[in-house]
Amino acid sequence: MKKADVIIIGSGIAALQLARRLQDFLHVMIITKKNRFNSNSYMAQGGVAAAISSDDSIDLHVKDTIIAGNEHGNHSAIYGLVSDGKKVVQQLVHDGMNFDRKEDGSLSLGMEGAHSIQRILHAGGDQTGKHLIHFLMKTLTKVQFVENEMAFSVIKDKEDRCIGVKTKDAQNRVHHYLGSHVVIATGGIGGLYAASSNDSTVLGDGMAMAYLAGARLIDMEFIQFHPTLLYINRETKGLISEAVRGEGAHLMNHHGRRIMDGVHPQLELAPRHIVAQQIFLERQKGNEVFLDIRTIKDFQEKFPSITQLCQEHAISIEEGLLPVSPGCHFMMGGIAIDEVGQTNVKGLFAIGEAACTTVHGANRLASNSLLEGLVFGERLADYLKSVGKTHEVTSSYIETKKPQEVRRFPFRVEALKENMMNYVGIIRSEEKLQQHNHWLQELNQELIDTLDPFKQEDIQKYFMWLVGSLISKAALLRTESRGGHIRSDFPEEQQEWYQKRIIHECENNVMRVYFDEQNQIKIYA
Ligand code: SIN
Repeated sequence: MKKADVIIIGSGIAALQLARRLQDFLHVMIITKKNRFNSNSYMAQGGVAAAISSDDSIDLHVKDTIIAGNEHGNHSAIYGLVSDGKKVVQQLVHDGMNFDRKEDGSLSLGMEGAHSIQRILHAGGDQTGKHLIHFLMKTLTKVQFVENEMAFSVIKDKEDRCIGVKTKDAQNRVHHYLGSHVVIATGGIGGLYAASSNDSTVLGDGMAMAYLAGARLIDMEFIQFHPTLLYINRETKGLISEAVRGEGAHLMNHHGRRIMDGVHPQLELAPRHIVAQQIFLERQKGNEVFLDIRTIKDFQEKFPSITQLCQEHAISIEEGLLPVSPGCHFMMGGIAIDEVGQTNVKGLFAIGEAACTTVHGANRLASNSLLEGLVFGERLADYLKSVGKTHEVTSSYIETKKPQEVRRFPFRVEALKENMMNYVGIIRSEEKLQQHNHWLQELNQELIDTLDPFKQEDIQKYFMWLVGSLISKAALLRTESRGGHIRSDFPEEQQEWYQKRIIHECENNVMRVYFDEQNQIKIYA
C-alpha cells in the first residue's frame, strides 16, 4: 500500500503543470501506464495559442474559439480559458520556457486554421510538445513517478469518496495507492481509431475508469479528425501540423487540382472538420490527396520533426508533395468537471483532454489544447493548495468486492479500431451507427464490478469497448451536424440541439443517458 496526498494519473502537460505548482505544498505522485514521456502532449507539433501580441485581444481569441466550436462551447468558460491562458503563458515565458523567437528577439507567433491572427507560440519549430514537457519535467524535483503501471479502478470509501486507485503492472499484479485527491489526466481516445495522430497508449482509460466510478461523461460524440496525417501504404503514420498550412502549403489531388477552392473562404485554413471532410470526400472519389509544400522556404529548419517523419517513410521533402489523409486527433468531450477540475465524485478530479471543460465546443480551435492543459493544471493546483490534505487515508478504507468469474473479451482490438473509423468516423449516419452499436452489443459486455482478476490486456480491451460504446451511442442520439460531428442524414445544425449536451452516467451498473439543456437535466434512457 503506497500513499501520497495527490495522485495524478497520466504525465501530459496538464499533469506536469499541476505537479510543478503543487510539489512544494503536498506530496504528489504521478502514475503512468508506460514511460513518463508517452503522451499526446509530448507529440504536439503546433503550439500554444495565446492572445499575447499587441495586435491581438482576449475578445478576438474568445470569438475564434466560439466560432471554431460551432457555438457549442460555454462562453464564460472560454473567456476564463483565454484570459487565464494569457497569464499562464506569460508566466511560462518568464520562467524560462524557450519558445521560438524572431531575429529581433520577440516571440515568433505562428498561424493555424480558424485563427484570425498569428497567435501560436511554438518551440523547436514543430517540436513544441517535446520542449514543453522537458521544460516542465526539469522543474519536478519533489514529485514521485510510478511508470509502467496501468490505473484501472478508483478506490472509494464508505461515504463514496474517491480515496485512491488500483493499478496493474506488466506482470498483472494489483497495486493500491491511497491519496486525499485523485486526478485523472490520461488524455483522450485517439487510439480507439485505426487512423490516429495520437500516442498508441491513449485509449480512453481515464474516461472509462471515471465513468465506472460514477463520474459523468459529456459531449462524447464530438471528436476532431485532423486533416493531414502522413499516409503511406494505406496507413496513417503521424501528424503533419496545421502550421505547415499556416506557412502556405496547399492541398491538391493527384490531378493537380486544389481541393479547398470554392469550399471555404479560408481555404486550407478553414476549421479542421471542414478540411478533414473535404479530404475524406476527395479520397472516397478515388483521388489521392497531397500537401504541396513547395512554396515553403527552409521547410526542414521550420519543421524538423515532420522532415524526419517523411525521411523515415522515404517521402522527399525536396519534391514537396506529401501524401495525406485525415485521422482521429482530439476528443472535445470527456469527464464533466467544474472550473477547477472537480468531477461529480468527491475526491476525483480530471484535467487535460480526459476532461470536458466545455471550452472546445463541437470542434477545438488549433493549439487551444496545450493552453487548456496549462490553465486547468494551474487552477487545480491553486484549488488543492487551498484545501490541502482533506483526510488521512488508511488501508482499512479499501472495499473488498467479490471477484467475478474472469471472462475473455471476444474481439480483436484492430477490428474495434477499424469499425470505429468506418462507422463512427468522419462522416456518420444512423444506418452506420446502428450497425456499429449492434456489433458492440453483440459482444455482450455488461459492466463489470471488479476488474482485479483480469489481465491488463483484457482491462484495456474492456475500456476500449466501453468508451467506444459511449461515443457511438452519443453520435447516434445527436441528430444534426455540428463541428466534428458530421451526419450525412442530418447535414445541417439544428436549433433544437443548440447548447444541448448528452450526458452519460453509470448508476448501479446501469448505463444511463441524459440531456443537459441550459442546465435542465432530462432523463433520456
Ligand atoms: C497541429 O499541429 O496541427 C496540431 C495542433 C493542435 O492540435 O492544436
